[in-house]
Amino acid sequence: MAGVVVTSRLPGTAVERLRAEHEVRYRDEDSPVPPADRPVLLAGAEAVVVTLGHRVDAAFLDACGPDLKVVANVAVGYDNIDLDACRERGVLVTNTPGVLTDATADLAFSLVLMVTRRLGEAEREVRAGGPWTFGMFHLLGTSVQGKAIGIVGPGSIGLATARRAKAFGMSVLLAGRSAPDPAAVAELGAEVVPLEELLERADVVSVHVPLGPTTRHLLDAGALARMKPTAVLVNTARGPVVDEDALVAALEAGRLAGAGLDVHEHEPRVHPGLLAREDVVLLPHIGSATVETRTAMADLAADNVLAVLAGREPPTPVR
Ligand code: DGY
Repeated sequence: MAGVVVTSRLPGTAVERLRAEHEVRYRDEDSPVPPADRPVLLAGAEAVVVTLGHRVDAAFLDACGPDLKVVANVAVGYDNIDLDACRERGVLVTNTPGVLTDATADLAFSLVLMVTRRLGEAEREVRAGGPWTFGMFHLLGTSVQGKAIGIVGPGSIGLATARRAKAFGMSVLLAGRSAPDPAAVAELGAEVVPLEELLERADVVSVHVPLGPTTRHLLDAGALARMKPTAVLVNTARGPVVDEDALVAALEAGRLAGAGLDVHEHEPRVHPGLLAREDVVLLPHIGSATVETRTAMADLAADNVLAVLAGREPPTPVR
């Protein structure tokens, strides 16, 4: 029986499936493991299941010890994991791509509608309990039909967001480091353009790149300055891809019409310059937060652990 450590509460039957084959230490809590608790929880682990709140660095790996074979991240993004430190120790890393594509794309397009139709502001107005009346000029937003969405990072979630946008009557621009799937480009009737051109032409810019050295502050002051003053920015990828100081400056100067952010540069802290703005919709990193999706993520993480401990190739390794 191998030692599997599950560091956070998981939905569904993933933990039971692990228990059926291995000895499992299950930490039935949502918060990250405090460093002081690591030695007891992690020591001797052969597999560790972690969620995004955990930073898996050299100290974390050392607390697990030399038997560790796999770190299974319950997320598609893995910027919380020091891949070099894992490689140095011969530890495999797995993630959960695919199963959260639709949920995240749904949320991205929800943010597009929330910002363009001023839904956060409208809801706050009703909840404030004050009087309101129907009026021809009351809370006017803008329509998405006939506008262009620019997808920065046309991987599976970016393309799924583009499909939703197309269904709402938007045209699609795509920009990314690697060429998008030609069949998807044709299906969407999309134009593949350089990032600079996308920023200049899009009415909505939706960010879907992973966080890494080349994408940190990809949307910096210079990039934001290329956007139309009527355009809005949506980020459901990772907060640090957007320079939030620059975003606040652009919004304050009226050089951008609004933003919808599910992710934040310094989570869980939200930039104070964003909190009071009516033209910004702020969510607490819930892109994949549906019962079905989170259950599928936990199951896929368990599948990865079970495969590695059985000496098989895991379904979704991080290469
Ligand atoms: C991910 O999977 O990377 C999301 O940010 C959380 O589900």
